[in-house]
Amino acid sequence: MTTIGKAAVIGAGTMGNGIAQACAASGVPVVMLDIDQRAVDRGMAAIGSSLDRLRKKEKITEADKEAALGRIQATTSYADLGDCDLVIEAAPENLDLKLRILRDVQKALKPDGIVASNTSSISITAMAAALARPDAFVGLHFFNPVPMMALVEVVSGMQTSDATRDAATAFAKRLGKTPIQVRNSPGFAVNRILCPMLNEAVFALQEGVATAEAIDEGMKLGCSHPIGPLALCDLIGLDVLLAVMNVFYEDFNDPKYRPAPLLKEMVAAGRLGRKTGQGFFAYR
Ligand SMILES: NC(=O)c1ccc[n+]([C@@H]2O[C@H](COP(=O)([O-])OP(=O)(O)OC[C@H]3O[C@@H](n4cnc5c(N)ncnc54)[C@H](O)[C@@H]3O)[C@@H](O)[C@H]2O)c1
Repeated sequence: MTTIGKAAVIGAGTMGNGIAQACAASGVPVVMLDIDQRAVDRGMAAIGSSLDRLRKKEKITEADKEAALGRIQATTSYADLGDCDLVIEAAPENLDLKLRILRDVQKALKPDGIVASNTSSISITAMAAALARPDAFVGLHFFNPVPMMALVEVVSGMQTSDATRDAATAFAKRLGKTPIQVRNSPGFAVNRILCPMLNEAVFALQEGVATAEAIDEGMKLGCSHPIGPLALCDLIGLDVLLAVMNVFYEDFNDPKYRPAPLLKEMVAAGRLGRKTGQGFFAYR
């Protein structure tokens, strides 16, 4: 089994910089690649701020912060991936873009290097089929914000070898995360269960079962959820939830996944949640 001594992430956005930070904070040297220097700089600035917040809370020292930053090599060049054991793709959720990147990564990588994708919704099996070494490809689905969230779904496509899955699992543990094994399937395990629950909360609101406040209070106090489902819809973004439900509806060919009409209406009105200041609740 390949031991991951050095890793890389493609994309320095929300997830990419979070994964790079998690690697660096765990002592794993990491290359963080994006399309241009501005994007790479933004990613490094986000990591710097996140480490600063941890230092202010006295969870890490100034020396820990500097050591972590010293383990991150920010770049725009695929040539810097040559000595990495694992590359995690965290580019935007677009199949054609991801396949272009994954093929370039496999070309730049050493022969026994492993490639992973942090995709939320694209089939790991379908992506693997387009690669030269499908057995060395796996899903590593981190959760946002990566430095805080303990879970990683290790997603095996039909072609993923046991050795690849085991190396990815060991790597997630090395980052201090708790990996769970998941077979490739739309939404993997967590979003498959979470998103229909959120959609059902919108149905309940639409049908006048209870007010938005009452639905959220009910799920917090009755089910020990830390946040109500409608507040969570607002946090995720109603457009993102609608897109996921549409994927489930199509991929499973099952009407139980139909998006709630009120969800569609809210998205059409531009009430997308926190990011627009208005969703099921109002935000200043
Ligand atoms: N945001 C979340 O909560 C979340 C959670 C789990 C998984 N994901 C998945 O993670 C992936 C990344 O999401 P994100 O929220 O970090 O997106 P993001 O938009 O914040 O970041 C994407 C980054 O990729 C870069 N990029 C674009 N084209 C590139 C290219 N050709 N080569 C290299 N970099 C390129 C962009 O410049 C940007 O910095 C997506 O597949 C998404 O589905 C997101």
